[in-house]
Amino acid sequence: MDNVTPTKTNRTVSKKNGQKLASASKPETVRVNLDKRSYNIYIVRNILERLGSILLKDLRLGASADGRVAAVLINPKIENYYGKIVQKSLEEAGFQYLPIVLVAGETYKTLQTVRRVYKMLYEQAVDRRTVIVAVGGGVIGDLAGYVAATYQRGLDFIQVPTTLLAQVDSSVGGKVGVNFEQAKNLIGSFYQPRAVLVDPLTLTSLPFRERRSGLAEIIKCGAIADADFFKFVSDDITGLLRLTSSNLETAIAKSIKIKAKVVEEDERDNGIRAILNFGHTVGHAVEALTGYHVYRHGEAVAIGMVSACLIGEELGVTPPETTGAILNVLQHAGFPFHLDERIYPNDVIRVSALDKKSIGGSARFVLLERLGKATVGHDVSNDIIKAALLRQRKL
Ligand SMILES: NC(=O)c1ccc[n+]([C@@H]2O[C@H](COP(=O)([O-])OP(=O)(O)OC[C@H]3O[C@@H](n4cnc5c(N)ncnc54)[C@H](O)[C@@H]3O)[C@@H](O)[C@H]2O)c1
Ligand SMILES: [Zn+2]
Repeated sequence: MDNVTPTKTNRTVSKKNGQKLASASKPETVRVNLDKRSYNIYIVRNILERLGSILLKDLRLGASADGRVAAVLINPKIENYYGKIVQKSLEEAGFQYLPIVLVAGETYKTLQTVRRVYKMLYEQAVDRRTVIVAVGGGVIGDLAGYVAATYQRGLDFIQVPTTLLAQVDSSVGGKVGVNFEQAKNLIGSFYQPRAVLVDPLTLTSLPFRERRSGLAEIIKCGAIADADFFKFVSDDITGLLRLTSSNLETAIAKSIKIKAKVVEEDERDNGIRAILNFGHTVGHAVEALTGYHVYRHGEAVAIGMVSACLIGEELGVTPPETTGAILNVLQHAGFPFHLDERIYPNDVIRVSALDKKSIGGSARFVLLERLGKATVGHDVSNDIIKAALLRQRKL
């Protein structure tokens, strides 16, 4: 294991624990421009310590929050690591700290958990001035956002993502929601946060596979929108994975910028936002067919990106060099990329067609015309998918 556990009192990582972040690249702020719903995303080390003061500024509350409630949705592990810092920072800014500690895990991203949170807010008699703060991975962020969007018709919402995946993906763009029965993210809304605070130091406690999972989304961003960034990430893949790269903040910020730009163009996912789904059609099917406990999301997306490249090759859309570059970076990061023989192409086709992003019973594939240029809307027959997936089994 190369991950480390920061203590409550000292978040700088000791050499004894094996890992330290490389010296920081410059702090970054990304503005997401959505008219009145615009907000800043800060990518700064130790920014957790400034959570309270940033809320005062971004929520335009003046010099003190005057006892306004900050309801912090968090899970026990994250609370153990970072709860004290969050509490201190909020209380110093005059917020009343109300921790709402939820059991971790995708299986708890449900309406039942939402109901439990509503009940706690109701019992504490919080008013509409309450701020909902999500501190955690995508599960906490999506659920907290849904609570914020719906409780009393909308409360201010702040994201403090602590997984790499949440930092570069789920905390950006305002999709909030929960799972329903077997369907992921079926119940939800678009609800933008008022600010997002990314503290790269939180990644030091994140298990290796979780970190790598987030890296898949960074690779995806380069693949769909920026060939130079793809190369930048590929050249530094080991350092980014081990957190020894001084480009960490730059890579996080650039991925956020790519996603933010797409979201600015298509906030409600009626068009161009679909390109963010590169690798996700087969990826989601692989996750579902393996019961969500074999692959981390990013690992399934890695497999799905290769599938999309091979489908693109079959159609004459994706040049083999592009597939080669994707395979190369995934291999260097140690991602799975071939399709396990226990996963049948016909099952992938069936499950992909059920995906909520499918239209009229056919999956909608995002393909690469080259690195940095994604397209959608291709007519992809089942025979093509099957041929590509059979090739992927043999990789
Ligand atoms: N809203 C969106 O646009 C969007 C986009 C992508 C994914 N998602 C959602 O995000 C979720 C997945 O998010 P995730 O990958 O962050 O998973 P997650 O929230 O389950 O977090 C993964 C694990 O890491 C732990 N963890 C979190 N931060 C940590 C830290 N700093 N140190 C140690 N452990 C830590 C968590 O407790 C959990 O066990 C899914 O529910 C998915 O649907 C949403
Ligand atoms: Zn994803």
